[in-house]
Amino acid sequence: MTQAPEDAILASWAANAAPWIALLQGCGIASRQTTNPAIINAINRYQPDSVLDVGCGEGWLCRALAAENNAPITAITGVDAIAALVENARAQHPGGTYLCSDYSRLSSALNGQTFAVIVCNFSLFGEHSVAQVLATLKQHLRADGTLLIQTLHPLMVCNGDYRSGWRTGSWAGCSGAFHDAPPWYFRTLSDWLALLQQQGLHVYMEEPLDPQTHTPLSVIFHARQP
Ligand SMILES: C[S@@+](CC[C@H](N)C(=O)[O-])C[C@H]1O[C@@H](n2cnc3c(N)ncnc32)[C@H](O)[C@@H]1O
Repeated sequence: MTQAPEDAILASWAANAAPWIALLQGCGIASRQTTNPAIINAINRYQPDSVLDVGCGEGWLCRALAAENNAPITAITGVDAIAALVENARAQHPGGTYLCSDYSRLSSALNGQTFAVIVCNFSLFGEHSVAQVLATLKQHLRADGTLLIQTLHPLMVCNGDYRSGWRTGSWAGCSGAFHDAPPWYFRTLSDWLALLQQQGLHVYMEEPLDPQTHTPLSVIFHARQP
């Protein structure tokens, strides 16, 4: 039986956790030299005292925020469904708080906690699951808080077809250790905006540029309660 795409996403991340950890720790994604500082700057703009990193992976962003000397952040929580990634995050940052939970079980894992900033850094890939997790995240965002979502820029990854829909994944450019790339749901910019507006959030976006080509590498949505 063919696996549902939402399930195939998690199966793929579970199967590729080890090469993913090696890739990030070897700084193996060139665009991250731009997109990593872009998301850190976006978070710091709000001077949050608490941050939730949703789909934290091997934990680089939580570690980077914890290492910033001047930041007023006193509580950083990372959450990811993949046990091997969460174990790596905990091992590298023993003082950190990392939860192992699928987005569908996030509400019970968070147990009523609220955050000044919630960040999803390249971690929203599904169709209905993304709409559902956004509704959950809104419940855990402080009234004056900000939800930040960084995703690959739709224009740069549409591959000639600018219509929202499921796409076949690819590990192109990554080592041969990766296999069974996760499917992902491509969204146009206007569909991303509509999704956030359906949650009653006010949104503005920034588009970090490749410093050489001056084309957008990603988009960062800043979503806040009106
Ligand atoms: C491309 S990685 C990004 C990791 C990290 N945010 C970063 O910036 O490197 C996507 C992450 O989202 C997580 N993820 C995807 N779907 C998820 C779900 N339904 N529940 C929990 N985690 C999920 C994956 O396990 C993976 O660690």
